[in-house]
Amino acid sequence: MNYSVLFFDSGIGGLSVCQEAMRQNGNINPLYLFDNLCFPYGIQPDDVVIRRVVDLIQRFTSAIHVDLVVIACNTASTVALEQVRKSVTIPIVGVVPAIKPASKITRNGVIGLLATPATIRRKYTMDLINAFAHDKTILKIGTSELVEIAERKMIGLPYDAEIISHVLNEWTCGDVRPDTVVLGCTHFPHLRDEIQKVLPEVVLVDSGDAIARRIRYLLENEKEKNCENTENSVTEVITEPTAYCTDIRKLNSELISGFRKFGFSDLRIFA
Ligand code: DGL
Repeated sequence: MNYSVLFFDSGIGGLSVCQEAMRQNGNINPLYLFDNLCFPYGIQPDDVVIRRVVDLIQRFTSAIHVDLVVIACNTASTVALEQVRKSVTIPIVGVVPAIKPASKITRNGVIGLLATPATIRRKYTMDLINAFAHDKTILKIGTSELVEIAERKMIGLPYDAEIISHVLNEWTCGDVRPDTVVLGCTHFPHLRDEIQKVLPEVVLVDSGDAIARRIRYLLENEKEKNCENTENSVTEVITEPTAYCTDIRKLNSELISGFRKFGFSDLRIFA
């Protein structure tokens, strides 16, 4: 049996989570919803992000059969997870910065957190640091420039690689340098090689593996509940990997072929 898993993000970043989930779980049919009308989330006010994420996930799961939702976006998860969980009955997995694993990996006790400007300032992120890395030094860089670069790379547009070294400058030149860096935005694993080139000695940590394992656990353990949902459902069942975006003006051939590379043969509008 194949499970319909909805991956949600503002843009293409969540595909890094989707890819790892598919690698570890052979029984997933991925659906991918991204809110490119409001991209990037990292510079939006919190209430805008909460409203959009709750509304889109609620309407999508009322129209289309979904067994599990993955909010494959740190910026959305760290502010909207609780409200989304209250608004739908389907299990929800959130993606948040991998502070806990990073604090076990670091040897010099200095962790870099690379995320969007919004994730950097969130209470959720501060709580994670206080709970799992209160005895470590955390150096934060909040950037939307790298988010934009990841989008350009994915759809085959040229980008200025110099920007990556510029953004990471304080970790390559500063007196205190991290030996472990958390990729706290799902766009950044798409730039893993480029980031590693600038920070060759550093261990890069993301949440992909942990999320893929969590998905497997939930699909195995929520099986009966999911089957019940399917039987009673009046929602449309999509059986092929299908992506949906919210901005028709950005639905162009580059985006379609970008998604094809990730196995999505169809890109539709969900407005
Ligand atoms: N991919 C997202 C994240 O994990 C958000 C990027 C953005 O829209 O700013 O944070």
